[in-house]
Amino acid sequence: MCGIVGYVGNNQAKGILVGGLRQLEYRGYDSAGIAVPDGAGGLEVVCRVGKVQALAEAVEGMELPASCGIGHTRWATHGKPSETNAHPHKDCSGKVAVVHNGIIENYAALRDELRAQGHEFVSETDTETVAHLLERYYEGDLAAAMRKTVAQLQGAYGIAAIHADHPQQIVVSRKDSPIVVGTDGSSSLVASDMVAVMDYTRDVVFLEDGQLAVLTPGSVEVQDAAGRAVEPQLTHIDWDTEAAERAGYPDFMLKEIHEQPRVVRDTVSGHLKDNKIVLEDLNLSQEDIEAIDQVYIIGCGTSYHAGLVARELIEAWARIPTRVEVASEFRYRNPIVTPSTLVIALSQSGETADTLAAVRLARSKGAKVFAVTNVMGSRITRESDGTLYVKANMEISVAATKSFLAQIACVTLIALFLAQRKGRLNSRQVVSLFHELRATPAQIEYILSDTSAIEEAAELLKDCHSAMYVGRGINATTCYEGALKLKEISYLHAEAYAAGELKHGPIALLDPSVPVVAVVTESPTRMQTLSNVQEILARGAKVIAIATEGDEDVREIADCVIYIPPVRDCFSAITASVPLQLLARSVALKRGCDVDHPRNLAKSVTVE
Ligand code: G6P
Repeated sequence: MCGIVGYVGNNQAKGILVGGLRQLEYRGYDSAGIAVPDGAGGLEVVCRVGKVQALAEAVEGMELPASCGIGHTRWATHGKPSETNAHPHKDCSGKVAVVHNGIIENYAALRDELRAQGHEFVSETDTETVAHLLERYYEGDLAAAMRKTVAQLQGAYGIAAIHADHPQQIVVSRKDSPIVVGTDGSSSLVASDMVAVMDYTRDVVFLEDGQLAVLTPGSVEVQDAAGRAVEPQLTHIDWDTEAAERAGYPDFMLKEIHEQPRVVRDTVSGHLKDNKIVLEDLNLSQEDIEAIDQVYIIGCGTSYHAGLVARELIEAWARIPTRVEVASEFRYRNPIVTPSTLVIALSQSGETADTLAAVRLARSKGAKVFAVTNVMGSRITRESDGTLYVKANMEISVAATKSFLAQIACVTLIALFLAQRKGRLNSRQVVSLFHELRATPAQIEYILSDTSAIEEAAELLKDCHSAMYVGRGINATTCYEGALKLKEISYLHAEAYAAGELKHGPIALLDPSVPVVAVVTESPTRMQTLSNVQEILARGAKVIAIATEGDEDVREIADCVIYIPPVRDCFSAITASVPLQLLARSVALKRGCDVDHPRNLAKSVTVE
């Protein structure tokens, strides 16, 4: 949700800021802007509505020699996307500029107070109050003004500010919104995500809530809320920067789908030792494990779907009652969580506001919370009792693909681990399942090697107004995720149902204009799903089936069949998800959509 970036060093800032914003564009692309000192005692602010490219074109020919500046790419919350509402925002004097990620909850009261004192507001944003507060408190020291300003703020913020009187300084503060700072010895940077800093340094500092940082060329000074210097905690980033390049693929989504065999391999590798599943980072003693009487899984969006897969596996193998809930509901209920509940929080970004609030709630009830995330040093890792990293590497496309498969691989390991440690599966069973899991990357590679049937299926979907997805068991979840992908990137309406539910209502929607995607892979409920397919066909709807290679029954009845190699049912979410990702992408492209930048969405949602 909004990306902020700042640079101060010896090089011209404008290109570096625009480059950083391009890397943060996944966080929002309603507008983009930069602010730099103008060399004449003031600041120059340039903003454009839309993607960063519009800003890049605007600044290209502009004379902006400053070697310090801040930038922002926006996902609109307060005020529609417009140049007036675009960040950076200035104070009345035009000497302060601010970029902000988050929501200032008490902005209306602050704005009224500031207006009464004569401050003039030009935008509808909550952020502009920060610029005026800095103006009110500034007495020659921007860091001191920032301390007084943030003391007035309620809500979430990652803020970077510059002042025309200090053309080689950026002051930063945060609460509940991510901020990373780093320096290579001559250039210092701040960003919402380490991807925008990684080209300069791999040793970064994730600011803690309430901390401030003062950046000057080659120096990053971290302070606590009282202004005392704090020894910065350095984190080394080992992601490879190739992830930030499309590497010959037409879009990041396709590249990331093709990375999935490696991602699953990397996530699984090293977790079987002496016939035992080892998850050292969970820090659970045998006694802790024996005490677990319930598992609660929380997440949002695609991560929630990975949680549904986790429930199937944990209940099937470890026989522990498992609930899955979207974090935005969990956090506002009074869920039955006790000290003997194991809570697993799934979040690709590790920054989703609702998931973080759910983690805090679960811990306040005495539960142990384990995070499964892709982002090192992300907020969730610091708020949980232990962290398991999925090895997806940086995911850029807004629609999650490789992180989903990596999450499934990770929760599969957790389910095997719990089953073994609870004595519900013996070592022979665990090792055999582990080897089958390790074989799935080869099956994904096989699926990726021929996508002609997927293209054919996309032709059937591309002009419909609505589509339905059905499957049973673990593949009901595959369908929820498949339908979400289609909605997200092609803007087609799609709904997914457990196949047996169709006759209890949704079947009324079927007619020849509503195609149905049915996952009918080999499973104990394949026959039942096949009967549901017959019911669908009887209503005149077209059926696109995902089936196991060699299944001739399906070929005879479906309008189009996408075959995938045989796998045990418990691993079919890994394989069956891949054609559904490709299908959504192909439909989106046929409809002329930008698959990497779907409208209205952001990759990481740091607001409620
Ligand atoms: C946003 C993204 C989704 C993602 C969800 C949860 O809505 O657009 O792709 O699944 O947030 O994100 P997380 O980082 O917590 O997995």
